Amino acid sequence: MSSNKDRRAFFKKAGVLSAATLLSPYLLQGRSFPEELVRKLPTISNDEMLWKWVQNSYTVSATISNLNNGGVSPQPKVVQEMFEYTNRMFNETPSRFMWSSQGKMESVREKLAYLAGCSADEIAINRNTTEAMNTVIWGIDLQKGDEVVLTEQDYSTVMRTWDQRQKRHGIVLNYISFSLPIENTDLIVKKYTEAVTSKTKAVMITHVNNLNGNIMPVRAIADAVKKKNPNILVIVDGAHAFAHLDFNISDLNCDYYGASLHKWLCAPFGNGLLYVKKNRIASTWQLFPFVDPQSDDIRKFETLGTRMLPAELSIARAIEFHETIGSKRKQDRLFYLKNYWMEKVAKFPNVIIQTSFSQEFSGALGAFSLKNMKLGDIGKRLMNDYHIHTSSKADRHGKYTGMRITPHVYTKISELDRFVAAVKDLSEKS
Ligand SMILES: Cc1ncc(COP(=O)(O)O)c(C=O)c1O
Repeated sequence: MSSNKDRRAFFKKAGVLSAATLLSPYLLQGRSFPEELVRKLPTISNDEMLWKWVQNSYTVSATISNLNNGGVSPQPKVVQEMFEYTNRMFNETPSRFMWSSQGKMESVREKLAYLAGCSADEIAINRNTTEAMNTVIWGIDLQKGDEVVLTEQDYSTVMRTWDQRQKRHGIVLNYISFSLPIENTDLIVKKYTEAVTSKTKAVMITHVNNLNGNIMPVRAIADAVKKKNPNILVIVDGAHAFAHLDFNISDLNCDYYGASLHKWLCAPFGNGLLYVKKNRIASTWQLFPFVDPQSDDIRKFETLGTRMLPAELSIARAIEFHETIGSKRKQDRLFYLKNYWMEKVAKFPNVIIQTSFSQEFSGALGAFSLKNMKLGDIGKRLMNDYHIHTSSKADRHGKYTGMRITPHVYTKISELDRFVAAVKDLSEKS
């Protein structure tokens, strides 16, 4: 098989050649699967043999089911090992390794850019989405009276940053609101576009929100608002989208994109990225000033002082692990897991499903509530009685509340079955 096309045709012809067929010799002999073989597998989201390999690559609790991977995700063993090894090496002579290893970060930048689908000159490595969004919100020139469009369903910490800019500089925040789940692209685009005026300088879009995991049609919104007012800056909060959905940042028509790498990429905790479109780098100020603040070098956003380089270097291993699964296969699997539990739970009494079943509007994150039980009680009961860790969510305007359930690639179907059985019990309580 010389090309991807040949390989796809081969798998299509083979039809029944599932992951099980390819992987079973290794399982029978108790050998681990070669990554090369996993990479060659066709795109399948529900072949349990393959996902068993992924599950065994993690060191997660065997007694508590973690269904809040949206908060922060665990790292596969190979990532933990690289981090531990690098950290120990640095500890031999910290100042020598700290400054001499910075060149290696260029290779991490290139790998991240490849995954993000943009140029390495547009990717800054930072600590998380919070830092990325703060860099942008404080870094763009805004005068008193300038307007920004955002939604009440955006992330509260990011909204607080805008609030401060409003208080300090007199900018105007034009909030729009969506009733979740929202599955109407035309309506979404219309609301954003209607909120844009001749004074609008920026539009913020949360690619996948943290409440019910709704996916926003970023490209359609960006095209429409820029058509109405070409000078608008489109800023995307991608905390929950990066390494979860299969997309290229350069296809989104945005100017800025922030993401956390400790969520869906499973990189060491405290790693993130900021994408700045090449022609916007020079005009964007930094939180921590660089030698030349108006430079068009993306590295100007990395002036942090002494940093956690062993963790940052280990991002490279997380990318390799992600690529072994493949972006498309990972997105399909996460969507499959979410619909697996949602379809079952939807049939129980008192259950309200709060996330779309469609792949256009949802991925790994799903939400529900019970008419017969308060959110806080659902979370407590799931943890205390069933040993399942989940998270309840509310927006700061009090318009949305729900239990958020987020499996990850290592989540076992048997864990989801236990979760479904627990919700059945709770839904039947009077
Ligand atoms: C939509 C959204 N934006 C930003 C953040 C902040 O991410 P971090 O804590 O990694 O900076 C989160 C965290 O969950 C989020 O869900």
